[in-house]
Amino acid sequence: MAKKGKEEKESMNKVAIYPGSFDPITYGHIDIVERSLEIFDRVIVAIAHDSSKNALFTVKERMEMVKAIFSHVPNVVVDRFKGLLVDYVGNTNANVIIRGLRATSDFEYEFHMASMNRSLNPRLDTLFMMTSKDYFFVSSRTIKEVASLGGAVEGLVPGLVAKRLKQKFRLPVTKRKELGWDD
Ligand code: PNS
Repeated sequence: MAKKGKEEKESMNKVAIYPGSFDPITYGHIDIVERSLEIFDRVIVAIAHDSSKNALFTVKERMEMVKAIFSHVPNVVVDRFKGLLVDYVGNTNANVIIRGLRATSDFEYEFHMASMNRSLNPRLDTLFMMTSKDYFFVSSRTIKEVASLGGAVEGLVPGLVAKRLKQKFRLPVTKRKELGWDD
């Protein structure tokens, strides 16, 4: 009885997947995770290995940063995935994908992605959350651009990410390889 009760309770847990490149994670992403936790019991932050994109941080580095940021939040799980998102989601007990929406410019891409994912798995829904007004202009891409040109990104990304960005853009390629940052 106790076991059954536990199983039932677990199956009732609402789990969502928050997928993305997180190259690197920003306060915009963190805000979405925190707000998702108001709706879901558990959020899986799933970092994509996306070979088509020229990532600045390796998946290992991105995992390290995201794990450190959520180390104090037990209901956030950090994971990585390769291939189709729907296949990854199918191996978890989540059936909702969370995506942040910044502005109208995000809409078309997100609409296509959500529609494709739903076509691949009709049981899969995508829940969009409007990015908080403080982070409307923040994207990993612009953060990297600003950091690469020596601009300040503090306040837009956690301190540890700002530090890693500084190191990345300061170190020569040979040193980055030595540290395994460019695998
Ligand atoms: O943070 P991003 O780069 O906007 O995240 C995009 C991501 C990783 C969620 C998306 O590219 C993705 O799901 N990639 C996995 C491959 C896949 O499933 N593609 C089909 C959806 S169109």
